[in-house]
Amino acid sequence: MSAPLRYLTGITTTGTPHLGNYVGAIRPAVEASRRAGTENFYFLADYHALIKCDEPQRIQRSTLEIAACWLAAGLDPGQVFFYRQSDIPEIPELTWLLTCVTGKGLLNRAHAYKAQVDKNTAASVDVDTDVTAGLFMYPVLMAADILLFKAHKVPVGRDQAQHLEMARDIAASFNHLYGEHLVLPEAQIDESVALLPGLDGRKMSKSYDNVIGLFAPREQVRKQIFAMLTDSRAPGEPKEVEGSALFQVYQAFASAQETQALRQAYAEGIAWSEAKQLLFERIDREIAPMRERYEHLVNHPQELEQILQAGAAKARARATPLMKTLREAVGLRNLASTLAAAKKDKAKSALPSFKQYREADGQFYFKFVDAQGKLLLQSAAFASPKDAGQCIAQLKQGGFSAALATLAQDSSFDEVNAALRALSEG
Ligand code: TRP
Repeated sequence: MSAPLRYLTGITTTGTPHLGNYVGAIRPAVEASRRAGTENFYFLADYHALIKCDEPQRIQRSTLEIAACWLAAGLDPGQVFFYRQSDIPEIPELTWLLTCVTGKGLLNRAHAYKAQVDKNTAASVDVDTDVTAGLFMYPVLMAADILLFKAHKVPVGRDQAQHLEMARDIAASFNHLYGEHLVLPEAQIDESVALLPGLDGRKMSKSYDNVIGLFAPREQVRKQIFAMLTDSRAPGEPKEVEGSALFQVYQAFASAQETQALRQAYAEGIAWSEAKQLLFERIDREIAPMRERYEHLVNHPQELEQILQAGAAKARARATPLMKTLREAVGLRNLASTLAAAKKDKAKSALPSFKQYREADGQFYFKFVDAQGKLLLQSAAFASPKDAGQCIAQLKQGGFSAALATLAQDSSFDEVNAALRALSEG
């Protein structure tokens, strides 16, 4: 059997899940967790939550509710890795190692940070107003979440695509310096993810205050559904499914057949109150069985705690050995092992080598260094890593070309050519 493909999903523990989260994230993720040939990691990103929220009670409550939601929605902790970020000390540990290979310039470009800077600039206040170092470092923490478990695929919304690019950049920098230890992850952006409209027809979102709670009490859900915005067509008048939030929400829960039946009912002039009753019943049919489990878990937090502790042990069985390797790789080593390790490092660097990297200006560069690490060539800027790679290939094949690179001060043509020869012979 081929090695499993690893998927990883982080859930920031702020707020209480609503129907939009369920349809857009929880339900598809739980379904995906059952695919054969995959390993699936789901974690409660409570360190991330601290960036946005400084109310301890809310952090705790949200972690409890979100954990209970995912389990109630069918996530099987026996099948998947389900854990809380703050139970994995290797995550902040890796965060630091990655911090040390991450250009500040890379982080300057992160959307979440830049948005705050832009806002401050527009308001003519200091650019750093309301910018914590936590907000600034967010992409590095997220990279650690992903890289620690060697995830191949990370399903995220469009807004997170940049963070995945950064995780790749950071992993590449680390590998470049210390060897191929980390897997470069890929974002999996599902454009077809159902965006559920909320009570007012806009996208269901906490920030619009138009949400229907996933496990709110039944009566409250009914009330909310009956308060959904509709047009003013009277009973008996045909109704449009196009642009009807009610219809779209129904569709997100119903089978194709059921959807078709409601479409028909719209055409035949179903009363809005009747349509709302249908919607309420349809949602309740799916959610009611889960609500029982949800309420049980929320009322037995010690059970949840046990599940999370077991999940942490399972996750750490992966994280601890990798972290050990990474510590070793960067030189955080048992002092008694110094000599043996140094010999290994030396063997690795006995040949001249090309080192590719990205600068804060967003451009790509490489250096050519000899076996002792002395700089022989410093490249000019390239627009892409591919262009830089092509130039390296030309150098390797055709020898030194002054047109393509700038000569470092204290090396000579002969020195560079000798090193290139050594590389091709080595
Ligand atoms: N930042 C993500 C969000 O706000 C949550 C998250 C944290 C995450 N760490 C992650 C998602 C790692 C995927 C992988 O939605």
